[in-house]
Amino acid sequence: MQKDPLPFTSPLLSVGARPDPVPVPSATVAAATPRATNNANNSPLGNGVSTQTSPQATPPTHTEPFSVSAFRRRSLCSIDQPGVVMTRLPQELEDSQHEFGSKLVVIMVGLPARGKSYLVKKLQRYLTWLQYDTKVFNVGNRRRIASKGDNRNGTSHSHAFFDPKNRAAKEIRDELALESLEELIAWLKQGGRVGIHDATNSSRERRKLLLNRLEAEPNCRVLFIESICTDPVVLAHNLTMKLSSPDYKDMDEKQARDDFRKRLENYERAYQTLGEEDEEDGIQYCKLINVGKKVIAYNIQGYLAGQCIFYLMNFNLSPRCIWLTRHGESADNLVGKIGGDAPLSARGKRYGECLSRFIQHQRQENERARRVEVEAGMAISPLRERTVAVWTSMLTRTKETVEGFDPKEYDIKHIRFLNEIYAGICEGLSYSQIQNEYPEEFEARRVNKLFYRYPGMGGESYLDVIQRLNPLIIELERMTSDLLIVTHRVVLRILLGYLMDIDRSKMPEMDVHLHTLYCVEPKPHGTVVKKYRWDEELDWFVEEPADK
Ligand code: F6P
Repeated sequence: MQKDPLPFTSPLLSVGARPDPVPVPSATVAAATPRATNNANNSPLGNGVSTQTSPQATPPTHTEPFSVSAFRRRSLCSIDQPGVVMTRLPQELEDSQHEFGSKLVVIMVGLPARGKSYLVKKLQRYLTWLQYDTKVFNVGNRRRIASKGDNRNGTSHSHAFFDPKNRAAKEIRDELALESLEELIAWLKQGGRVGIHDATNSSRERRKLLLNRLEAEPNCRVLFIESICTDPVVLAHNLTMKLSSPDYKDMDEKQARDDFRKRLENYERAYQTLGEEDEEDGIQYCKLINVGKKVIAYNIQGYLAGQCIFYLMNFNLSPRCIWLTRHGESADNLVGKIGGDAPLSARGKRYGECLSRFIQHQRQENERARRVEVEAGMAISPLRERTVAVWTSMLTRTKETVEGFDPKEYDIKHIRFLNEIYAGICEGLSYSQIQNEYPEEFEARRVNKLFYRYPGMGGESYLDVIQRLNPLIIELERMTSDLLIVTHRVVLRILLGYLMDIDRSKMPEMDVHLHTLYCVEPKPHGTVVKKYRWDEELDWFVEEPADK
């Protein structure tokens, strides 16, 4: 486990399937990498990465003895984005590139029914989308499995099991928490990047137990995230969700409520919020109060930890619809050319007109449904006027698609981040032309579409597009208004990949046809997705089954 703050000094190169050369301070490169050379093919990074070497041919006269552990610490702290950033390793460590991505252990803290599992699911989805392998290790699930076997009598779901004075039960609970941590560490060692320990971990003693074990793991940083909830509406909602959880779903409702209330009282007796004493352990932590309304962050050091907190600070629980579609059919779509900036075909224009009528209609329908929800006391947030934002890329075909939306009624923004993947030297070609003119490129992309970066100035990979969409995901989570995004095939796949938690191997191959509209509604228990097809004859949208 890493504690001490370290300065950012690691020389980094931006790399990927086809990296762009990035100037690196020559003295730093020379000191850290004895083999650094101006011959790109000799670079320890291979793949045509070139480095800027010192103008003097003479090597530096003074070098500190190389310390692997200092190098590891330094690299754990700094920027790390899968597919677009790679740490340049000294010769001694060339064979262990896989170990050098940051490894983060997130330890959740908080009383039951404070939304911890909701938070970790969201965080897992986000980090996985950013291509950090992330896994949640839920101690409650382990307890439930253990209680089914007979090797650990005494493990049960009843409130008495959570009584801090029940020593035997406490031992079992600590044992289960440590077992989950062992599983998490083993998974990180096999190549995982972020392991999330999902449990209450609500006493200092428990946290110490976990920290002591993590002391033995020099390659992991630890981030504690505590969820505190005082909002009665959210608490009541969480309680209802809890009563349908595996511990209570088969119990009579009154009995379940009663048992859960007693369980909570037991936890409250032993609960110690993260604070000064934990700070003495040199840890980094973040407290999220009422779903990020108030955030306290302490000693945040690593890049990845910072990303997690920034994400968690920015989301909200407001009910809303996120509509997504590709632009209407373009002149290039008719001839099968990729990229470019073609205008819409006549058919594409009709799609755009229908889209504006349909969204206007849906907006009124949603308004009605929401009013009913509020009147029935089912809403998690008060009724407010729901605006609709419209985002398109900066390319002609998406702008033309939203021409029917009145800027007096809709907040319309054209955003460059939403542009289609840039195909470099392949822009304006059809797939069969690419196959004939650049057969090796065609094959390389077929083999690994996610990582493949188009050659030529500005050519992009799916991973590059993910990175440029990251700020939009944060904004999308932060907003409370409904949103329509009109974009392109790759961008739509990537956005749906995030919203629907689609496996990275499937995402680049997803069928996202023209003239199809998705409606994604984030709900506390997951995401509801609807899919509509434009029926040209009806000139209206028809709902279809939305399968992943
Ligand atoms: O053909 C439309 C298009 O948006 C192109 O501009 C883009 O290069 C392509 O789709 C991306 O799809 P894929 O990644 O499957 O090649």
